[in-house]
Amino acid sequence: MDSVKGQQVYADDRAYVFHSWSAQGQITPMVIEGALGSYFWDFDGKKYLDFSCQLVFTNIGHQHPVVIQAIKEQADVLTTIAPQHANEARNEAAKRIVSLAGVDFTKVFFTNAGADAVENAIRMARLQSGKHKILSTYRSYHGNTGSAINATGDPRRFPNESSTGHVHFWGPYLYRSSFWAQSEAEECQRALEHLEQTIIFEGPKTIAAILIESVPGTAGVLVPPAGYLDGLRALCDKYEILWIADEVMAGFGRTGKWFAYQHSASTPDLIVFAKGVTSGYLPLGGVVITEKIASAFNDRVFPGGLTYSGHPLACATAVATIDVMKSEKMLENITMIGETIISPGLAELARKHPLIGDIRGVGGFWGIDIVTDRNTREPIAPYGASSPAMNELIAACKKHGLMPFNNFNRIHLNPPLNISVEDAHKGLEIFDIALSEVAHHYKG
Ligand SMILES: Cc1ncc(COP(=O)(O)O)c(C=O)c1O
Repeated sequence: MDSVKGQQVYADDRAYVFHSWSAQGQITPMVIEGALGSYFWDFDGKKYLDFSCQLVFTNIGHQHPVVIQAIKEQADVLTTIAPQHANEARNEAAKRIVSLAGVDFTKVFFTNAGADAVENAIRMARLQSGKHKILSTYRSYHGNTGSAINATGDPRRFPNESSTGHVHFWGPYLYRSSFWAQSEAEECQRALEHLEQTIIFEGPKTIAAILIESVPGTAGVLVPPAGYLDGLRALCDKYEILWIADEVMAGFGRTGKWFAYQHSASTPDLIVFAKGVTSGYLPLGGVVITEKIASAFNDRVFPGGLTYSGHPLACATAVATIDVMKSEKMLENITMIGETIISPGLAELARKHPLIGDIRGVGGFWGIDIVTDRNTREPIAPYGASSPAMNELIAACKKHGLMPFNNFNRIHLNPPLNISVEDAHKGLEIFDIALSEVAHHYKG
């Protein structure tokens, strides 16, 4: 604890650092001194139980000693190398990721993070299919790039200047159904009918891929109803469209499976990953590729690349992260925590707090709609914004030492996969207290 140093770090941040997604003059960043396991703390000694996993990436918790050691060892051997050279760390990471995805997948293209992985998956789909449109849901987030290559001046731009058609459709979300559905089964059927109509009216011969988060994350942890991804696969097959599964947030154990689509019986054509693959210790993302798509580039140049594709330090981190997730049975742990603590615990909180409108989740991935009226389902903050009441709820969580993830009118509880039973209970207890403190915002 060193409050004076904390003040200096804060002052330097405000003086020199330009932050993401922010009006620069209106933010007051928390200043973090350190982190370990399921906790991080500031320079004043205030400790937070991390149910955000930051931006849902520290899947093995903070500062896991095995992974930190692996990073040090790789730094001693080969810190970096250009992407055209083969290196052991990249091979080992690719082998593991391909085997987690299953027999349909053969290769991995590594990127720096999630957005560039999405970009490259779209590029592969367009080039392999010869079609240009990408369908994705309104309730989704796929990353913050897209125009860089069109702004590029040199000839690397030429093969990438395909039309940039993006079409949006409604995915399933029973609580705020776009289809007046009354049950998960009805929501599933109607969402698939709507998707098929979108495909027909857009023209199947123009659609390269459907890009979908296997569990839309930032949009609300919208766990798809049973059968939805299987139905999506069937539509893709019927209309010769590729399925790109965005597993950036939902992958690497977050839902209790290596990839969230593995809760369905179907397999995508391309998988996009990032975040949890290294638990965020080093930035890394990538695309897992089926043979059908990989082979399209056997004799044809793949017109994409990144200086740090397959960075050895990041890939060694991925290897150690995957290995430690397996050896410490983290997927089993989070499945147990989700089923026996978080799911019943949140159901209990919903009985007590009318502010809780809806709860969705699986494994270590939970979204809670906060509403001011259960009958009208009025969100406590409007779509696309926050509100003083929502800010009060978040502040109450933090005051009592819980860091949740939040978006608009939702609180997301996403603990590390290796969280202890005790800390899982503790997180819910703090959430309970915070909800009690803002109960006066309920109007119903
Ligand atoms: C589902 C999904 N896809 C893509 C991205 C973009 O990843 P990155 O911020 O690493 O570029 C995110 C980031 O939150 C995400 O949640």
